[in-house]
Amino acid sequence: MTRHVNIKIEPSRELTPSTELELLRGAVAQNPASTQLRMRLARLLNSLDMFSDSIKMLTAHAPLGDDYGVQTALIAAYFARNEAGDTLMALQVAERALSLELNETQKSYLLAELAKAHLRRNDTEKALSFLRKALELDISNVAAFKRLAMELFRQNKPLQVIKLTDDLKQNGIGHSRLLAARTMAFAASGDYKSAQQLACYASFIYEGLIETPAGWSDLATFNAALVSEINTNSSIRFERYGTASEKTWRVEHPATGTTPAVRALLAEIASLAERHAGTCAKHDHFWTDVRPQSAILRSWCVITEGHGYEQWHMHPQGWMSGGYYVEVPDAVTNGDGEAGCLAFGLPSGLIGEVAAHNFGQTLVRPKPGLLTLFPSHVYHRTFPHNAEGRRMCIAFDICPA
Ligand SMILES: [Fe+2]
Repeated sequence: MTRHVNIKIEPSRELTPSTELELLRGAVAQNPASTQLRMRLARLLNSLDMFSDSIKMLTAHAPLGDDYGVQTALIAAYFARNEAGDTLMALQVAERALSLELNETQKSYLLAELAKAHLRRNDTEKALSFLRKALELDISNVAAFKRLAMELFRQNKPLQVIKLTDDLKQNGIGHSRLLAARTMAFAASGDYKSAQQLACYASFIYEGLIETPAGWSDLATFNAALVSEINTNSSIRFERYGTASEKTWRVEHPATGTTPAVRALLAEIASLAERHAGTCAKHDHFWTDVRPQSAILRSWCVITEGHGYEQWHMHPQGWMSGGYYVEVPDAVTNGDGEAGCLAFGLPSGLIGEVAAHNFGQTLVRPKPGLLTLFPSHVYHRTFPHNAEGRRMCIAFDICPA
């Protein structure tokens, strides 16, 4: 197998979400029977946290039809809105959708959604049985794996999580959720050495200042150009459902047709990440064994004022992830505490304080111009900087293509 990971950058966004929304709404109004258009509009509305609009649009024109994509968008909207009765609605739509003509991957997806509804309704036995069935139908179903592993952690059964990951690993599965859960399960069962070996910070975390991209005189000028491009991005928004961001501003697609600095940064990241992947591949490790041959670089921007932060999370879509610091308050760069820092470790919520403490925490102190790269399965969080000014980070995933 070649060591090289070929990274392509996702295309820039030509349309703002509001323009896209306007166009799609117009198209649906003209063709209300088109399930394709309604599904696209629903997915866009869901991505903008406009769940009620999505539900209204999908249920306004009866019949909903027998389209799997439409049904899954509706289920997602009910789950995300999560008002009284929404879980039951999601469950009913999923049950109905299961009677459609579906392939095994689609059936598996719906079973995992049914399981989610049962978990929310505290019907754990039913949920576990659906999750196991979902994995039997599609062994690579990440959502089913995640829900099953999380439930096993809740029941304090880390050895069962290790067994589950062993079984999947033997069948060639190695997504980031699996590596993350396996790391936590080792720590929760007291095997810190195996947990630390799987995270392998020393070999796989990269930290370094980037070279100034061609066209800018120095890094400070380049970062100022990035700040200006992000500040004028019209899709900037406060928080987003389903992310780890708290009290944080986000730009979901920082690269557009008018952001030369962002695009130059992404090109630099892709090149450094390819080089880092090559270096990592020299190590014999589960993570490097599952490296993709080709990958897509997807990015977003996170901006925090004094109180914003990221909860513990990992990056389920990626193989390698990272962040570039565009702007960082001096108090953070020159500080000596945790404020404003990035920390690698494990969340205590699922494995307990003792296991998380014994596993340990590794801090990265941000400064403007610093790039970090790390395996997508390693858990991390950030601390509020509590300072004047902003901390701006362009985060990214390198996703198997
Ligand atoms: Fe992250």
